[in-house]
Amino acid sequence: MSGDSEEGASKVTDETDEKKAIRVAVTGAAGNIGYALLWRIASGDCFGKDQPVILQLLEIPPGMQRLDGVMMELRDSAFPLVHGIIGTDDSNIAFSDADAIFLVGSRPRTKDMDRSDLVAANGPIFVGQGKAIDAVASANVKVITVGNPCNTNALIANANAPRIPSSQFSAMTRLDQNRAVGQMAEHSGVPASKIHDVFIWGNHANTMYPDPRFATVDGRLATDVFETDWLRGAFLDTVATRGKAVIVSRGASSAASAASAAVDHMRDWWQGSNGRIVSMALPSEGWYGVPEGLVFSFPCRCENGKATVVEGLPIDSFAQSKIDENVAVLMEEREAVGGLLEIS
Ligand code: NAD
Ligand code: LMR
Repeated sequence: MSGDSEEGASKVTDETDEKKAIRVAVTGAAGNIGYALLWRIASGDCFGKDQPVILQLLEIPPGMQRLDGVMMELRDSAFPLVHGIIGTDDSNIAFSDADAIFLVGSRPRTKDMDRSDLVAANGPIFVGQGKAIDAVASANVKVITVGNPCNTNALIANANAPRIPSSQFSAMTRLDQNRAVGQMAEHSGVPASKIHDVFIWGNHANTMYPDPRFATVDGRLATDVFETDWLRGAFLDTVATRGKAVIVSRGASSAASAASAAVDHMRDWWQGSNGRIVSMALPSEGWYGVPEGLVFSFPCRCENGKATVVEGLPIDSFAQSKIDENVAVLMEEREAVGGLLEIS
């Protein structure tokens, strides 16, 4: 019997070893989102239950002691899929050969701020990190930007990494999509698992548009299930201002839900969205008239490691006005960070 179980044990190891470990970098790894995110990545929720990972964790020097503690706890969790953990304050080490990068590290806002108020403090971080990605990451790296204002920070990182195709940079609006699903679930009594294809246009800001027109709730169109007044009123406002509401209530910005959304975003990009529409902010290629290069949230489907914008959806006058509003805000932000987009 003991021979059998040893054989069984070595078989499990062989299966785990079948795939080559991928390198996953997380910045701000000792912060609140990092603390929730790392355990989900380590357990296989993001890249697959058979995909080993090497975690490459970045902090700034004042965060290194906290990072040591996080790394102790990760090791103490003995995840079978974790084949290595590196902690560093050097982005050239953290991003070295990275296959996937979560750009989280940056300051969160306080309740008296808008996310765009963070651009002066956080924008410059993404210049250096963009350059490091350009210098050392895998040519196929997938980058998700979470640190706020995430659309414009992704724009800055992308601009500073000319070697990496723009299609490999993204910013996170999946938390906004998940909030929209959560609101629909609560207001219909239908579980989140039966709500599909509600997605976000635009900026991760109060101007965002959670578009309900193609969403289904247990197989019925959301526009038949809910009143238009609610969809364009309380629903839209609740989703768009949820970040502030969490900060006011919790005294800190969303962390567990943000980490969960980052996992959803990267998991679907990596493993496919199974035909579902998901929200991803991507550098525009002119889709829906959005100026080229602006990092804008679009409806996407993911397959074979590629995110494709769903084109040709009808745009009514309300949707067009929301798209225009978001373009205007993002153009202003782009102008404000012009100096950070010029490669020296
Ligand atoms: P936090 O303050 O708890 O943690 C941030 C961590 O980043 C800290 O440990 C800090 O030392 C580190 N850090 C700061 N500058 C860094 C740098 N240059 N390189 C590496 N690490 C650095 O904050 P948090 O709650 O984890 O939030 C992080 C960011 O994510 C904030 O900007 C927040 O606004 C944003 N956020 C975005 C979304 C979204 O939906 N896009 C959701 C929630 C939070
Ligand atoms: C969120 O949406 O929860 C985050 O972007 C944090 C914030 O500042 O709102």
